Amino acid sequence: MSRPSWHERVERERAERDAGQRRRHRRRVTQRDGARCQVDGHSLLNFCGNDYLGLSQHFAVVGALQDAAAREGAGGTASHLVCGHHAHHEALERELADWLQVPAALLFGSGFTANLAVMQALLDDGSICVQDRLNHASLIDAARLAGCRLRRYPHADAEGAIRQLRSLPDGLAMLATDGVFSMDGDIAPLRQLALVARVQRALLYVDDAHGIGVVGPNGRGSVAEAKLGVQDVPLQLATLGKALGSYGAVVAGDADLVGHLAETARPYLYTTALPPAQAAATLAAVKLARSDQWRRDKLRDLAGRFRARALAAGLPLLDSDTPIQPVMCGSEASALAMSAALEQAGYWVAAIRPPTVPDGRARLRITLSALHGPGDVDGLVDALAHARDRHPIEAAHAS
Ligand SMILES: Cc1ncc(COP(=O)(O)O)c(C=O)c1O
Repeated sequence: MSRPSWHERVERERAERDAGQRRRHRRRVTQRDGARCQVDGHSLLNFCGNDYLGLSQHFAVVGALQDAAAREGAGGTASHLVCGHHAHHEALERELADWLQVPAALLFGSGFTANLAVMQALLDDGSICVQDRLNHASLIDAARLAGCRLRRYPHADAEGAIRQLRSLPDGLAMLATDGVFSMDGDIAPLRQLALVARVQRALLYVDDAHGIGVVGPNGRGSVAEAKLGVQDVPLQLATLGKALGSYGAVVAGDADLVGHLAETARPYLYTTALPPAQAAATLAAVKLARSDQWRRDKLRDLAGRFRARALAAGLPLLDSDTPIQPVMCGSEASALAMSAALEQAGYWVAAIRPPTVPDGRARLRITLSALHGPGDVDGLVDALAHARDRHPIEAAHAS
């Protein structure tokens, strides 16, 4: 028999990752107190998480989790359509729909699962899905698994999107984009994309994992920031594990579409419901995200301060106004060296390398949080400039 060996395959692929400096290792956090973490025995100030509003350890959020867990237990016990659907889930769905000003919302265990569900339930081999080239991996994988025709357009290029849609005029069409791009921090041209979707009768789906809570009026995200409503964006995704500091995701929008997902999406039907206590914690976080405008104001000030100082220090940034502020490094080696130098100085900023970002576009994805103070940002910029002086960034790659 000539069947190849699994071990040989795994070893070959590991050797390839070694050669390209693409090995990945998990770091172990033993304690977390705000933005400060104990990581493998060292105290580091974290600048690479997604707890943008600083809610994950808020006493009201943790208190709601504890109270609900004491009464309801730790688990979800079953899928929603069997016996796992709880009043805490429904209260959270209602609150999210009210906040986002849409008719309906449906909870999922994670953003990745939610994207799989949306595409699997709405697309098939007769449909087309048109996506921004820099969309999150879960959107790309979801379209591939749905079996539809997947076409990608250049980043943030609405003309490119319409060209792709025109090239396949038959079959149901979905136009899918990140709202805030996860690795670049810029915001999709949603008003233009909404126009393209209308003209092409495509369903515009916005994955606002990094926009919700952070941008837009009352933190309602990039769809609200673009002054669009459910008639323009019939479905949007909000993750609950980033700015909301909890876990899970919600797909929100048109009631018929959301109802269709609840009855037909296999990643919704055949999985255990989110623990009700987690939903209770998220509800507390949503209330804070709605009321605490100061967290967004602080984030905006911190991002402005970071940009002004980093640009004055000659660091290569991307054009982003959000708390995601990438410092471009070019090669994997450069990103790893910069990340290690920052760690020496007491800052935790993971190196982001291909395939998460395109070849030659490795970076430090710096993220700001309302937990940081101005002095933290100043210290980080000094450490970045110092690291760059010791490990020069290849300018050709960094822009
Ligand atoms: C744009 C985007 N969509 C979806 C996800 C997946 O969300 P989750 O972490 O809840 O699975 C992420 C990040 O993880 C993301 O950045």
